[in-house]
Amino acid sequence: MKTNSRKLGVLTSGGDAPGMNACIRAVVRTASYYDMQVVGFKQGYSGLVHNDYIDMDNRSVSNIIQRGGTILRTARCMEFKTAEGRQQAVDNLIRLGLDTLLVIGGDGSLRGANLLSQQWDGNVIGLPGTIDNDLYGTDHTIGFFTALDTAQDAIDKIRDTADSADRIFLIEVMGRMAGFIAQYVGVGGGAEEILVPEQKVKLETMCEHIAVAKEKGKVSYIIVVAEGAWDGGAVSLANDLQSNTGLECRPCVLGHIQRGGSPSTLDRLLATKLGAYAVEMALENQTGVMVGECKHDLVMTPLQQTYSNKKPLDEYLSKIHTMLVQ
Ligand code: ADP
Ligand code: F6P
Repeated sequence: MKTNSRKLGVLTSGGDAPGMNACIRAVVRTASYYDMQVVGFKQGYSGLVHNDYIDMDNRSVSNIIQRGGTILRTARCMEFKTAEGRQQAVDNLIRLGLDTLLVIGGDGSLRGANLLSQQWDGNVIGLPGTIDNDLYGTDHTIGFFTALDTAQDAIDKIRDTADSADRIFLIEVMGRMAGFIAQYVGVGGGAEEILVPEQKVKLETMCEHIAVAKEKGKVSYIIVVAEGAWDGGAVSLANDLQSNTGLECRPCVLGHIQRGGSPSTLDRLLATKLGAYAVEMALENQTGVMVGECKHDLVMTPLQQTYSNKKPLDEYLSKIHTMLVQ
C-alpha cells in the first residue's frame, strides 16, 4: 500500500550523455524509498507532449548504472518550444496526477523546464545532463567526465602517430559553444594549441607558434579545436594552416563517440548524488531550480540562471597552458 500519494515524472532530453542511466536509476530508487510512484516519459519532451510513458519501479532500473545512453531515450521536440505544445504537456501531467517532473538535460532542456514551471503548478526540477559542462550552478555536468576520458584517449593515440610523422594534427572535440572539453583534454594531452569559443586566436598567431615550435625542434604539433571555436571546425583550419605553413595538416573530428561509452565512476557518482538529491528536494516542494554540485556541496540554482549565466573556463589552466608547452 503506497503511504505516499506523491507521483513523480522523469525524462531525459537533448543530447544524451553517459551517466543519464545512473541518474534515472537514482531517481527511481530514491522515489521508491520514499514510497513515491514514478513514470518515465519516453524520448524527452516528445513523450511528455504525446503521453508516451512507462510506469517505473526498482526492477525497471536494474543493471543500467554502467550503461551509456538513456533507457528512456531522448529526442529534440519542436512542439515543446510552443506554448500550445507545453500546454499539452501540462494537461498530460495533470491527467496522470503527477506533482513533480524531473528533467535531465542540457541548456536547451532546462530552458524548456523553466517555461514549463511557469505554466504548471507542480514541482519542476532540472538535472544537468550534458557532456558540454556548460551549465551554471554546478562544477560539472553528468557526462562531462566520460567525454573527457574518451577524447583524452583519442588524443593520446594521435600523439603516437604525430611523433612518428612530421605533421600537424588537429583534433576537434564537442562542446557546442563551450570550450570545457577542449581546455581539459588539451592541457591533459599536452596539446601545443587549444582553441576555444571563449577566446579567439588568429591564424597568423597560430602560424607563428608553429614556426617557433619547429625552430625549437618539436617533432609533433597537436591542436585541440572546440567545435565552436573555428568556422568549419578542424577540417577548415587544417586547410588554412596547410596553405599558410606548407606543412602537412591532418584533422580528426571525434564527433559522437564523445557521447557514448560506459559512464566513468565520477559520472556515475555525480549522477547518483544529483538524482537522489532532486527527489529529496521535490519532497520539500522545491521547484524552478536545477540541482548541482559545487565544491562538493549539493546546491540548487534557479533554472533561468543555469543557461543565462556564463560559466567561465578554468583561468589557471588557461594561464599555465602556454608555460607548459615549451
Ligand atoms: P540540450 O538540452 O542538450 O541543450 P536541445 O537544445 O536540443 O538539447 O534542447 C532539447 C529540447 O529542449 C528541445 O528539443 C526542445 O524540446 C526543448 N527546448 C530547447 N530549447 C527550448 C526553448 N527555448 N523553449 C522550450 N523548449 C526548448
Ligand atoms: O549538447 C551535447 C552535444 O553533443 C554538443 O556537444 C554537440 O554540439 C551537439 O550535442 C550535437 O547535437 P546532435 O547530437 O543533435 O548532433
